[in-house]
Amino acid sequence: MKESPKHLIDLTGVDKQWVLDLFAQADALREVRGTLKAPKLLASKTAALVFHKPSLRTRVSFTVGMHELGGDVVDLGSAEVGHGRESVPDVAHVLSGMVDLIVIRTFSHRLVQQLAKHATIPVINALTDHSHPCQILADLYTLWRMGRTLDTLTVTWIGDGNNVLHSWIEAATLFGFELRVAVPDGFEPDAGLFLAAEQATSGRVHRVRDPNEAVRGTDVVYTDTWTSMGMEDEAEWRRIAFAGFRVDERLMGLAAPDAVFMHCLPAHRGEEVTDAVIDGPQSIVIEEAENRLHLQKALMVALAGHPESAKPRRTRAANPEAAGV
Ligand code: CP
Ligand code: NVA
Repeated sequence: MKESPKHLIDLTGVDKQWVLDLFAQADALREVRGTLKAPKLLASKTAALVFHKPSLRTRVSFTVGMHELGGDVVDLGSAEVGHGRESVPDVAHVLSGMVDLIVIRTFSHRLVQQLAKHATIPVINALTDHSHPCQILADLYTLWRMGRTLDTLTVTWIGDGNNVLHSWIEAATLFGFELRVAVPDGFEPDAGLFLAAEQATSGRVHRVRDPNEAVRGTDVVYTDTWTSMGMEDEAEWRRIAFAGFRVDERLMGLAAPDAVFMHCLPAHRGEEVTDAVIDGPQSIVIEEAENRLHLQKALMVALAGHPESAKPRRTRAANPEAAGV
């Protein structure tokens, strides 16, 4: 049982065993969900949910997760936090005195880092322009539950070099799996992050320019919107720039026979993915979305629960062979 980090801002520097402990805790909570045995591990705790961008999955999963664990949430937006209304340290200090956890989705990654620096309570990054660690933790949990051995996976990213890809790059560095990155020229991920990952993994994180080549024999085909929140003005020319990067049945057919299709959602059907793929037998996008709830319940307990409560009740892995990844 690894000691928890104080915050979850990124997957860089997170301990692999800590992530595996989260998976076990998520499974344990999932098993008793909705029964009288469901433990109220966050009873009397409150999370401030600060959202500066829209959200379905993240908002609902943190809200429902907190309620299921016996806690409460207070919803905040730009009117309360932001627009230069007050300094970030002031927000951090005030919230630290009133609530037990801050979950924040915003544009600036730096703002979240600053909040974490000044808060005396845990801060969870619920998506910034730079990264989306909760999504990738839930995605890895989804694959782990399917019995996939994380450190020997091949994951192929098709599309934009965006926040979700950045968290995949960090995850690949943590677990050591192969991450093939197929992005159009001009839409590469952060150069510093990519180079560091390429070096740290001896090239297992690498760019493959041709999407066809990138998916050949891969275990996971992953894509995301071509136009992330806040970039709506660029949508039209991005559609042109990303031609050839749509995941369709032909492309999926080049992956391994038991490959899965993943997408963080929301999807733009007919753009980055076709209906046939996202609704097809290899798609696990709905499981991925539900796993946000289970994984983030474990995450909130790990960061904001009593130290004893963070211990998984049951440490059985979904697939014992996957337990040692
Ligand atoms: N995947 C994800 O974060 O979805 P939302 O934007 O709906 O929260
Ligand atoms: N890259 C997308 C992810 C949405 C969950 C965005 O930032 O809009």
